[in-house]
Amino acid sequence: MCGIVGYLGKQQAYQILVQGLHRLEYRGYDSSGVAMISDSGALNIYKAKGKVKALEDHAKDKDLSGSIGIAHTRWATHGEPNDINAHPHCSQSQNIALVHNGTIENYNVLKEALTQQGYTFVSETDTEVVVQLIEYIKTKNNCSLFDAVKEAARQVVGAYAIAVIDKNNPDEIIAARQSSPLVIGIKDDEYFLASDATPIIEYTNKVVYLNDGEIAVINRKDGLRVFDIKSRSEAKICITELKMSIEELEKGGYPHFMLKEIFEQPKTLADCISGRISSDGKRVVLSGVIEHKEKFLNANRIIIVACGTSWHAALIGKHLIEDFCRTPVVVEYASEFRYCNPVVGENDILIALSQSGETADTLAALELAKSRGAFVFGICNVIGSSIPRATHSGCYIHVGPEIGVASTKAFTGQVTVLAMLALLVGQMKGLVSDETLEKVASDIRRVPLLIKDIFKMNDRIQDLAKIFTYAHNFLYLGRGYNYPSALEGALKLKEISYIHAEGYPAAEMKHGTIALIDNDMPSVVIAIKDNVYEKTVSNIQQVKARGGKVVAIVTEGDTVVSGMADYVLEVPEISECLTPLLTSIPLQLLAYYIAVNKGRNVDQPRNLAKSVTVE
Ligand code: M6R
Repeated sequence: MCGIVGYLGKQQAYQILVQGLHRLEYRGYDSSGVAMISDSGALNIYKAKGKVKALEDHAKDKDLSGSIGIAHTRWATHGEPNDINAHPHCSQSQNIALVHNGTIENYNVLKEALTQQGYTFVSETDTEVVVQLIEYIKTKNNCSLFDAVKEAARQVVGAYAIAVIDKNNPDEIIAARQSSPLVIGIKDDEYFLASDATPIIEYTNKVVYLNDGEIAVINRKDGLRVFDIKSRSEAKICITELKMSIEELEKGGYPHFMLKEIFEQPKTLADCISGRISSDGKRVVLSGVIEHKEKFLNANRIIIVACGTSWHAALIGKHLIEDFCRTPVVVEYASEFRYCNPVVGENDILIALSQSGETADTLAALELAKSRGAFVFGICNVIGSSIPRATHSGCYIHVGPEIGVASTKAFTGQVTVLAMLALLVGQMKGLVSDETLEKVASDIRRVPLLIKDIFKMNDRIQDLAKIFTYAHNFLYLGRGYNYPSALEGALKLKEISYIHAEGYPAAEMKHGTIALIDNDMPSVVIAIKDNVYEKTVSNIQQVKARGGKVVAIVTEGDTVVSGMADYVLEVPEISECLTPLLTSIPLQLLAYYIAVNKGRNVDQPRNLAKSVTVE
């Protein structure tokens, strides 16, 4: 939610800032802006409603000089998307500029106090309060920008990652973080600041992740120094070397990141599995679990918290862990868990499942469980993000940067890691036989190849998408392991095509939802050969009897469902617990092609952002 970029160095800042905004556009794209201190010492701020491209068009004839600057791409929280509410925001004297990712909870109180001191506000944002507060403190105390930002950071309540520049000091950027991410890249005497590492990686692989409650001073002469906001003590700078490559951040010839990410899955899952199943196929190696074996053996309960697609993967994780480990698992929406005074304690394991590792609700749920004594374990994709850094242990899904807002390869990566975790813990508990482990592990290894097989249906799915492009509603039905796949299929369609879709447990449909079925309401039914296959077949008949059109996802060679469904998409046979890894692929493609046919912005659907770092 909102992306921040900053640069201080010897190059001209503008291109670096704008290129950085393009990389971070997935975090929000309703407006953007830059602030630079020009070569002649002016503070130039350019902002535009809409995508970064609109900013570039607006700025093209302006003074773009300057080797220090900050920039922002916005996902609106306070105030509608327009030029005025766009960041950077400027102080009353027009000397200080600030960009912010997060939300300031006490902005009304601060705004009132500042208004009484003669400050006026031009925007409806919470952010403007912060820059005015900094100026007020700086003027009142006659202190440095660093001291003023530090004091302001102590007074604001909420989540923030901020970057601040002062026209009177073109040699310094001040940045601070609390609950919103901030990364600083270092290359000799150049400094790159960003909400995540993607804008930085083309310049340097050496980065410093700022911790919560830290403030950084980036100064041309003195370099980077980091301090604790509360104690004021200087913190040790810990430089991490990133392994990400620039190619991973490009579309690689695909029209959209989403399509690229769908087609990447054979490779990303191979990466996810790599080194985690022993070469003889008899053992699963997840060091984050093995190092805390006792915790997993003795846990009374596992709670998985997540949001959106990750929540769907968590539901599959519940089936996997309960099947293989016989440990009770509850799956909670992180946003609900954090406010429902949950019963959680030291005999529980809380798994925080998140692609970005930055989702505010998931992070808060994890902190809550940790404060109550639970062992907290993260399963994330983005290396070095907030959730992995807040957990006792965890493992990455290693599927590479996911840039399309609609999650695809992260979902299959999450399910794959959960399957390996369930097998490993089940084996440690003596509940999974060597035979079962070898069979399922060998099937996990086959998944990349089987997904390649499914891609052979790409043209058929594209044709199918044409038939359903103008449907107004969809029902997605599945059972057991594939009930979450149905939820996920429906979410994919909704978020990128804006067609209403509902995911439902197939058998539950007859308790109400069946009333919706008619000729205009297609149902996508996952009817693979599992332990409830015959029941699902009956559910299909119930839909057909009411005039509903059925698209069925079936196991290769199925003749029964093929005889009754209107359209059939086959997936190869595999262990039942892994079937969501295959059934999700045609659903991703179907949603993608329908959205493309409707002319939607697939990678940046309206109202959404990739990482939801606000409540
Ligand atoms: O980064 P996270 O996995 O924590 O994100 C959770 C959801 O915001 C995310 O899965 C969202 O639902 C996606 N847009 C779904 O495609």
